[in-house]
Amino acid sequence: MNAKWYGTEREELRFRPIFEFTNQGSLRYIWSMKDLVIKSYGDLSFHRTIGELIRIHSENQEDVREVAKGLVDWAGVRKMADLGCGYGWFEEALGTGFDLMLGIDCLASNGTGFLSAAQRVAKTARFANLQLPCPIDVESNYFDLVIAAYSMYFFPDILPEAKRILRPGGTLLIITHSAGMLEEGEEFFDFSNLREVINNFSAENGERALRQYFTDVSAVDYHNSLVFNKDDGDALAKYIDFKREFISKDISPIVVKVKLLYELETRGIMRFNKNDRVFVVHK
Ligand SMILES: C[S@@+](CC[C@H](N)C(=O)[O-])C[C@H]1O[C@@H](n2cnc3c(N)ncnc32)[C@H](O)[C@@H]1O
Repeated sequence: MNAKWYGTEREELRFRPIFEFTNQGSLRYIWSMKDLVIKSYGDLSFHRTIGELIRIHSENQEDVREVAKGLVDWAGVRKMADLGCGYGWFEEALGTGFDLMLGIDCLASNGTGFLSAAQRVAKTARFANLQLPCPIDVESNYFDLVIAAYSMYFFPDILPEAKRILRPGGTLLIITHSAGMLEEGEEFFDFSNLREVINNFSAENGERALRQYFTDVSAVDYHNSLVFNKDDGDALAKYIDFKREFISKDISPIVVKVKLLYELETRGIMRFNKNDRVFVVHK
């Protein structure tokens, strides 16, 4: 709790200790990699600020949600489930007319944000605070659409359950990162812990995982880079703050921030791969 917070004064976003001393005097992690990453998704207004920052610094100005939405035949979609729904980012981009919208997330604090987005678009909105993978309490063949945006790498073992709850002909839509997103950072640092999380389900290996359960699998790439110019040091610092839990098991976020701000100053421009892939699967 003592570590210094850079960039904003908000109490709840301070760095927290991630190591402790064991009785034998050696250091051990207090939180797992997953715990650390998940913690970073609990703050709604900071998440929104970063969403806007990402939009401004994206080379590709097309919203990835619009790309994903264009791949779904919405005519038959009345009941939808969102796995790892966060605060309802995907639902914010949807039109109205759904009968049921179920959001599932392991962070209870995401419930309020999700429900307000889901209530706008669906007659009935529900939030389930679950740690996936686990059984989802609905009958088989129930949902017309199941989505997972930037979350499948946390729980790839949910795929058989996702298939069970999807009706025949229903769609599973997954937006996920490319493992290449770490390449620029890896010029300076070793991100092997983070790479392990992303590699659970990435643009590169997702199809292999999906084909274990589904035959109708296709994918569309969404190419993007985040670009920071010399005057964008504040924005880059904020972006690293946002990623701090993601990177803190590999290296101190403060070290990353100092190094990347130095590189920005020296090079005048920094570009980070933010390529995604959208998988469209039919049961
Ligand atoms: C990167 S965020 C994406 C949130 C949202 N889908 C979006 O695109 O904004 C990943 C989400 O997955 C949730 N999550 C991570 N692990 C989970 C698990 N094992 N079970 C349920 N939710 C999980 C996190 O709490 C977080 O809200």
